[in-house]
Amino acid sequence: MSQTKIVAISSFPCYGNAGLKPMLTILSGHLIPVPSILLTATSDIPGFIKTSTAFETLLEGTLEFCKDSGMKVVLFCGYFYKASQIDFTVKMYYKYKVIITSVILDPIMGDDGRIYVEKEILNSMPRILAIANIVIPNITELGVLASGNLDINGQIQELLSQHPALTIIVKSIRSKKERIGIKIRSLQTYCDIYHRYIPVKFGGTGDVFVSYFINNYIINKISLPQSVKKAAHETLKCIKKSIKLGGNELICV
Ligand SMILES: Nc1ncnc2c1ncn2[C@@H]1O[C@H](COP(=O)(O)OP(=O)(O)OP(=O)(O)O)[C@@H](O)[C@H]1O
Ligand SMILES: [Mg+2]
Repeated sequence: MSQTKIVAISSFPCYGNAGLKPMLTILSGHLIPVPSILLTATSDIPGFIKTSTAFETLLEGTLEFCKDSGMKVVLFCGYFYKASQIDFTVKMYYKYKVIITSVILDPIMGDDGRIYVEKEILNSMPRILAIANIVIPNITELGVLASGNLDINGQIQELLSQHPALTIIVKSIRSKKERIGIKIRSLQTYCDIYHRYIPVKFGGTGDVFVSYFINNYIINKISLPQSVKKAAHETLKCIKKSIKLGGNELICV
């Protein structure tokens, strides 16, 4: 039986463990990386430099190759550098729909109430949300996709009423001081998962969490709630190991 392949769009930093780097470690041979931008280092490293990729050529060429090879693929959409990349990805989705079995979207736009992408990305994100089967925002990103004046549950309900077939996984919800959690919602699923919060910040934990989730849910075909729970604990394990090793880089275990 042929391997499940994940065509993954996100950033690729030379130094540091974020974007496509942990995805490659965790999903290894299953991953077909399509970098939206190359960086000398992750954005937390002072003086990092960005250099653009031939994104359209890479994405279309990759999907054409997958089609010619008789593959079925999952399309993962992470960090987009330009809004035009979102529009091109939607166009490619319709062109290669016969080989794309599902679309998973991590709508990377911001964190902790701060937006770090250009405004046009915020405007284009609903177009890629419309083709997504699973969306995995943090609460800042959920607030961009839904009405800002609603609470988290209200925002989820609003998205579900607009996209009834969507599965929504809201990550990184701080509850009590020492807890962090995830809400999973679809028409069939209502599940909250909370676990221990470690008061430390490593860049790339969101990418690590999503990579483990894809590995559990898509590759190993574990149930949706168990895939999320396992991914959260695997991410926690990476954080603990990284603290133990004493550096500022997130280690995947
Ligand atoms: N400090 C932490 N302690 C415990 N678990 C964590 C911590 N940080 C992240 N996690 C786990 O990883 C999941 C993803 O959270 P994270 O904040 O990394 O997502 P994000 O905001 O989308 O991405 P990022 O913060 O990397 O930009 C959380 O739901 C949680 O399960
Ligand atoms: Mg976060």
